[in-house]
Amino acid sequence: MKFPKEFLWGGATAANQVEGQHDKDGRAMSIAEMIPYTKLKDRTKIGGIMTSLTKEKLLESVENKEGLSYPKRLGINFYENYKEDIKLFSEAGLDVYRMSISWGRIYPNGDESKPNEKGLEFYRNVIKECKKYGMKVMVTLHHFDTPYTIGAKYGGWYNRDVIDMFLKYAKTLFENFGKEVDYWLPFNEINITSFFALFGGAVFMEDVKDTKDPKQVNYQSLHHQFVAQAKVIELAKKMVPNTPMGCMVANMTTYPIDCKPETMMSWLQSEQMKKYFFYDVVAKGEYPTYSKVFFEKNNIELKITEDDRKLLKNNTVDFISYSYYSTSAHIPEDSNGSKTGGNLVEAGKNPYLKATEWGWQIDPIGIRYTLNDMWDRYHKPMFIAENGIGVDEKLNGKDTIEDDYRIKYLRDHFEQIGLAMEDGVEMIGYTMWTPIDLVSAGTSEMSKRYGLIYVDYDDDHKGTGKRYKKKSFDWFKNFKETGEL
Ligand code: BG6
Repeated sequence: MKFPKEFLWGGATAANQVEGQHDKDGRAMSIAEMIPYTKLKDRTKIGGIMTSLTKEKLLESVENKEGLSYPKRLGINFYENYKEDIKLFSEAGLDVYRMSISWGRIYPNGDESKPNEKGLEFYRNVIKECKKYGMKVMVTLHHFDTPYTIGAKYGGWYNRDVIDMFLKYAKTLFENFGKEVDYWLPFNEINITSFFALFGGAVFMEDVKDTKDPKQVNYQSLHHQFVAQAKVIELAKKMVPNTPMGCMVANMTTYPIDCKPETMMSWLQSEQMKKYFFYDVVAKGEYPTYSKVFFEKNNIELKITEDDRKLLKNNTVDFISYSYYSTSAHIPEDSNGSKTGGNLVEAGKNPYLKATEWGWQIDPIGIRYTLNDMWDRYHKPMFIAENGIGVDEKLNGKDTIEDDYRIKYLRDHFEQIGLAMEDGVEMIGYTMWTPIDLVSAGTSEMSKRYGLIYVDYDDDHKGTGKRYKKKSFDWFKNFKETGEL
């Protein structure tokens, strides 16, 4: 299989999952580091963590670490180890490094009038290091890490004023890194706010408990993020006019569990609101008709101004990116079918697919299906921003991990991406999740490892922090050198 020379192969990470040193050099806590690690007996049941987090529990956690642990505060210490890590990324053959900038390192509480120079200096060094090896850089501005103060003092993304704070932050990044950054993504997995406004938008649900339905809060907060994204794109046109701006959505492709006409109708409606909606707003620039019907039926009244509508229409994304880990089955409410784990939300079990320990179903063909579907619908270049497999791995006295399952996972997905390109899908590139082990976003554990590089920390951050190349590291390196899968 031949991939075009200009296709970018790379890897992705997120600031709050790798950096650690969460309070160093003027940084303040972000919402991400307040999500505790909770040991789960059944690893597929992740949703419980998110819904059981009360404001009180979260606030307590800022001072009091008793009984709970917060691995995202420590990460893999990329903050101090970035030179070695980026060197390894380059050795593996990454053409592009997708990183995120922590808002809280630049504006620790969000509301300062001047940026934190120490934070800027850190990212200047990281970007410089990537460029030293000839790597391109893709930057995500917001990867689930709104500064804690924005949540506690301003009500998070439910408050429209947060848009301006975000714009100020974006302007600072364009001023400082506009010349070096090759691609920008304003939000990681923007759709997560529609499920969990706390995780996606730092909204403490107790603050909005008088609102008739959490969905109202989720979708209004999401609307503010849509507006913020469009404003950032508008600003980019002036400040970094030739740098492509993309969206990033947690892709949730489903297949109908059977072919009953009723199932098909319910599947279509679910695909509309759980998948297409997020892309439609940012790629077509308007709220689709089906979403208006959905909001009406659910008594959701969004505050959307005429200016917002114009802004969305005039500032759509240049390319479409999404994370792709798995697909699931759509099971209508009144039908039989079982559930399994998924990316932050439970998923319907597809009897034809195998799953990871966390219940995430493995479906390489689904990536080709999704690429075709998205390309036909939007005709914008595609970028796979995340894809990978989480596995509980242990060194057991050795100095490598024989991760043939990861090689198989990546190879199968790469093949299907190649086929999608033969189908005519226009693509920019792919960044795997992830070149290096890091703290899980959903469960805050270290044991769920995705990397080509093993990092010696356990869930309690015990270990040497030493980096070890897994078998997949060499496999990927060879693929980059020879083109052989
Ligand atoms: C995506 C996120 O949801 O999936 C990443 O953008 C995350 O931050 C990745 O790490 C895998 O999810 P998890 O919960 O296994 O870490």
